[in-house]
Amino acid sequence: MQKKTFPPGEYKKDPGKFITLEGIDGAGKSTHLCGLEKILGERGKTVIVTREPGGTSVGEALRELLLDSSRAMHAETEALLMFAARREHLDKIILPALARGDWVISDRFTDASFAYQGGGRGLATQKLDKLEQWVQGEFQPDLTLYFDVAVEVGRQRISAIKSADRFEKEQNEFFRRVREAYLQRAQRFPHRIKVIDSNQPLDEVKKSLEKIILSICL
Ligand code: TMP
Repeated sequence: MQKKTFPPGEYKKDPGKFITLEGIDGAGKSTHLCGLEKILGERGKTVIVTREPGGTSVGEALRELLLDSSRAMHAETEALLMFAARREHLDKIILPALARGDWVISDRFTDASFAYQGGGRGLATQKLDKLEQWVQGEFQPDLTLYFDVAVEVGRQRISAIKSADRFEKEQNEFFRRVREAYLQRAQRFPHRIKVIDSNQPLDEVKKSLEKIILSICL
């Protein structure tokens, strides 16, 4: 029998849910990802944790290219590569997992393209809309947790952890535009995107996160 592949725009939701985490670099989403996985695991869910760009062999190779600070590229090349990685991610990881009834948590998804390539780099939203439609049809996360943090706080957090990649080397002004684009998307899709104030102490952020997950997903 031929393997059934994903027809963009015709995806039917299965019981597993798709949760995405978003925020500017240094917003703390990776820290809270483990907590989220634990909450869901304790409630008997099979959870697949993945990331973008990445999550597949091709996607991780594209990630290396995209984050390499020695490789400058056109903003549209950057957007196309992000969506190419996403297409692979949907086909190999996200959709098969949801079809099995698993839960998928992805560290970033399409909102990041609208925020970074749209807001940050200034690409026209209509172009990104077309790529979104091509790659994922009407498919959207069930829930997006947007960790909102002041640009200066985010910057401080990353500089304390590791050497900066191609995005993290951008100036504060770039991250202000990215943050603004995220906030606009949260306003536009209030049912899907929940804003978590990540300027608060870790414990408070954790509590907010738990509250949202327990009320929406279980
Ligand atoms: P990460 O460091 O949070 O894993 O994300 C890698 C970088 O890629 C981050 O700086 C944001 C950027 N990015 C985009 O610019 N567009 C996208 O669509 C995605 C998924 C990530």
